[in-house]
Amino acid sequence: MKRILLIVSGGIAAYKALELVRLLTKAGYGVTAVLTKAGAEFVTPLSLQALTGAKVYQDLFSLTDESEMGHIELSRAADLVVVAPATANILAKLAAGLADDLASTLLLATDKPVLVAPAMNVRMWQHPATGANMALLAQRGVLVVPPDEGPMACGEYGPGRLAEPPAIFAAIEAALNDGPLKGRHAIVTSGPTHEPIDPVRYLANRSSGKQGHAIAAALAALGARVTLISGPVNVPDPFGMEIVKVETAREMFAAVQAALPADIAICAAAVADWHVEEAGQKLKKHGTGQPPALKLSENPDILADISKPGAQRPALVVGFAAETEKLEEHASAKRARKGCDWIVANNVGGTGIMGGDENEVLLITGQGTAHWARMGKTALARKLADKIGEFFA
Ligand code: C5P
Repeated sequence: MKRILLIVSGGIAAYKALELVRLLTKAGYGVTAVLTKAGAEFVTPLSLQALTGAKVYQDLFSLTDESEMGHIELSRAADLVVVAPATANILAKLAAGLADDLASTLLLATDKPVLVAPAMNVRMWQHPATGANMALLAQRGVLVVPPDEGPMACGEYGPGRLAEPPAIFAAIEAALNDGPLKGRHAIVTSGPTHEPIDPVRYLANRSSGKQGHAIAAALAALGARVTLISGPVNVPDPFGMEIVKVETAREMFAAVQAALPADIAICAAAVADWHVEEAGQKLKKHGTGQPPALKLSENPDILADISKPGAQRPALVVGFAAETEKLEEHASAKRARKGCDWIVANNVGGTGIMGGDENEVLLITGQGTAHWARMGKTALARKLADKIGEFFA
């Protein structure tokens, strides 16, 4: 069983630490909690003890605690040390190497990776001192789950809210995982592309990025280093990976080229096939009843290009095929035409799949075709990532 030492420092977001403990224990992790003096003003040791099922540590100079388990031992008994929420104060102490209470002493004494989830008032987060501390911590390899932006308990608005417990949980899993894809680099394209018609209009499609983003997260959870190249989407950024945001197919193509070499390429983006040749000034309606003629040019085919044999070709290239009829026939033909190894084919005609939360696919590989019944996009992403893990086993 993997063990987590969870330090809860003071702040209104400390109540979310209880939900994080629930997620961790439910997933089978052992959690030992440490509460700072300020943290104890927001959550009680009793709540943490009840949820972790273990003793909660608060005092550096407790004779009983020290006789049972010394603080140095406590700092090393875990596989990962997590500070959630991490106040500006504890981050500053960690950056400066101060050790004036149990939590900061443990952070200085540990030989294990440390992950922090900051939470504080927006001005405190944006203060140059906090910025400098965060830069220093990142440079030292401290893992960070950045705060969310939104309304704050103090009435202000901005970045500084503690990330939601599921996001912190995902970052913890990724940090602890040395799964089957450790050491592999995966490029994932996701979302639609926007092709400008003029400075205010664009050609687009209904892709939400949900499936591609979920695949990127699932690959990262299996230990892969992921570069997610995303068109314009509204889904939140997944954690623990490099994210490159692009708008057009040509930008996506360039970003994929720049991210090579890779072991795995998953082209889940719904890339526009064409762009408008001259997207200059805003098109005007002249009242003549004559619509403007758009001159289209073909976009580069990212999947076909990356599938070409050569030194830079990833060992596994996976394409997607969104079809509205003759699914298997069209998707198999697409696999051959593009030269990719696997095709994930789905029927997007009136199924609510494009933009929805569920997917039902055929996975076409060199070995044959498998039908994966309708399931959530996250579940499908995990299943595909597992299959990719087996491929590299
Ligand atoms: O040709 P079609 O768009 O149907 O092919 C779908 C697959 O090809 C998807 O994997 C998509 O990401 C990829 N594709 C691409 N670049 C394009 C067009 C499609 O990578 N320009």
